[in-house]
Amino acid sequence: MNDHDHDSSNASGNRPFHDVLKTNLERRKVLKGGLAVAATTLFASSGMAHALGGSRGQAAAGRGGRALLGFTPVAIADGSGPNPSISPEYQFDVILPWGDPLQPQGPAFQWPPRPADQAEQIGIGHDGMWFFPLINAHGRRGGWDEAVENDPWRGRALAFGQGNDHGLLCLNHEFGDNTHVLGKSMPESLDEVRTSQHAHGVSVIEIRKRPGRKGHWQPVKSPRSRRIHANTPVRFSGPAAGHALLRTANGNIPLGTLNNCANGYTPWGTYLTCEENFNGYFGTEDAGWTPDESQQRYGFSRDGFGYGWHLYDKRFDLADADYQNEENRFGWVVEIDPFDATQTPVKRTALGRFKHEGSTVHVDASGRVVVYSGDDQRFDYIYKFVSADSWRAMRARGESPLDHGTLYVARFNDDGSGEWLELSLDVPALALRFADMGELLINTRIAADIVGATPMDRPEWVTVGADERVYCALTNNSRRITPDAANPMAPNPDGHIIRWQEVDSFVGERLAWDIFLIAADTHGEDRDDTFSDPDGLWADPDGRLFIETDGGQKKGLNNQLLVADTGSGELRRLFTGVSGCEVTGVAVTPDRRTLFVNLQHPGDGDPALTNFPVLNATPDGVTIPRDATIVITRRDGGIVGS
Ligand code: FEO
Ligand code: CA
Ligand code: CA
Ligand code: CA
Repeated sequence: MNDHDHDSSNASGNRPFHDVLKTNLERRKVLKGGLAVAATTLFASSGMAHALGGSRGQAAAGRGGRALLGFTPVAIADGSGPNPSISPEYQFDVILPWGDPLQPQGPAFQWPPRPADQAEQIGIGHDGMWFFPLINAHGRRGGWDEAVENDPWRGRALAFGQGNDHGLLCLNHEFGDNTHVLGKSMPESLDEVRTSQHAHGVSVIEIRKRPGRKGHWQPVKSPRSRRIHANTPVRFSGPAAGHALLRTANGNIPLGTLNNCANGYTPWGTYLTCEENFNGYFGTEDAGWTPDESQQRYGFSRDGFGYGWHLYDKRFDLADADYQNEENRFGWVVEIDPFDATQTPVKRTALGRFKHEGSTVHVDASGRVVVYSGDDQRFDYIYKFVSADSWRAMRARGESPLDHGTLYVARFNDDGSGEWLELSLDVPALALRFADMGELLINTRIAADIVGATPMDRPEWVTVGADERVYCALTNNSRRITPDAANPMAPNPDGHIIRWQEVDSFVGERLAWDIFLIAADTHGEDRDDTFSDPDGLWADPDGRLFIETDGGQKKGLNNQLLVADTGSGELRRLFTGVSGCEVTGVAVTPDRRTLFVNLQHPGDGDPALTNFPVLNATPDGVTIPRDATIVITRRDGGIVGS
């Protein structure tokens, strides 16, 4: 999200390998020879070179020697102002703006929305998303299970040619400030709080494309379309389910999901939505309230982000005894079955509690699932969960692969090696601190502090490349004073992208990392591919890396979508958003001929900056910009990014 709460709450002082000598690996040395070739320089002396340079590393070199990036970049001069721009070989369409009805006959947009209407309309703060193809008219799930066996790209090959014009889009609604949603800085009634709460969460929307290359996608009447918001019943699963720290004095059932940032999707066809800055929705007017250790580590404060929900909804009042522990119910990864609107969303506690940016699922050769997740705050960590057994075997036994397994946190050593540090009661220091696994998971950040994880420059999205390297965007960190090799800029206002290879296997505990690129290195006068603040990442199976930005761009640019060739390091600008917006979220159809991205907080809600996507005049003449989804296609019908 914008910049609501990225101050550090990590007072652990973790500084791995404090040896200042290590910082002699200055970024210029690390990057000698240009982008993406750091590995050989960095690891030649550490014996790790083979880990990053093996035959699998060749996958990114492009198919048959053809250039991966065949489009004309958006010129810097065209990438500013109130309207989006796109490469001349491409076209875009705008769909699903905030406030449009979920069902074709649903309540039409009006501003400010009424609470009951908002619960049946697209939410605000469009962020992570995924497209689940519908293979036939009866809405059968698109062959995901069988596909995985043959194609690590999770069904792409099998589903090729099917479900490319019809499917379920799961769409996160991260946040919407009161001024944007309500037209005032603070709610003045419970009704207004409900409006704000209903604008958050997730939309599941069945959408269909009209025939033709430029066909417009639109929502269709569907029993699967649904809204999940801050008041939707949810349930807990995994080691912390039923824990005393997840129960309230008044026994209210678990409700809702909040600040749904990035996402994941599973090989069994479900959607994962991730709760990021959940702390900011809580607050209290009780001057005597002070945060305990856990609340401090998660950043709870009396005013929160200024939503004021606690003024009318005591569930969000940190000092209300009836709702003690309510705040522990947020900060989780939530599993949603897009194909079953009656399913209760499940909070998967085995994946830990922190400010989850996303949750990227990869299937190991053994069939076990690995889930990567960044904790987006200054000086917080990168995590990996490994399922206990192959996902097929577990599901055959009636178990969720996301309920049983091992959670790890990353340590990046200055010599290019790294370890996944286990977070369980098998670690003596953690057994001393926590009574049980539930308590540990509810306080995942504190456990990670204890084992000595590496504090990072705000970990955002993670993606697994065609080269089987794992890429993570570290968006920026203006507060870093002491650099280390993995976070070499101090301060780091523009961010970088780190990547690693799992040395033994995806389920192993050793990694070898290098820095893919440093954003500041693209800012030179002679460079057209300048960008800052990488956030959204998605790797395609050909070796492309889609990079989305969220932050102040140089040279007057709006936030943007770029595509990198992970083999050559080449970088081109495919699309730019509008004034004040962030570009985020990536989804593709199975044939990769259609790409969905989101424009979040256009104009930061200020109509003087932009009225994207259209001039929405309300009866009193007020106009308001609306978050929306952008549908991107190549004019010649080719693969997106090519
Ligand atoms: Fe919601 Fe860290 O972006
Ligand atoms: Ca955001
Ligand atoms: Ca961000
Ligand atoms: Ca983000």
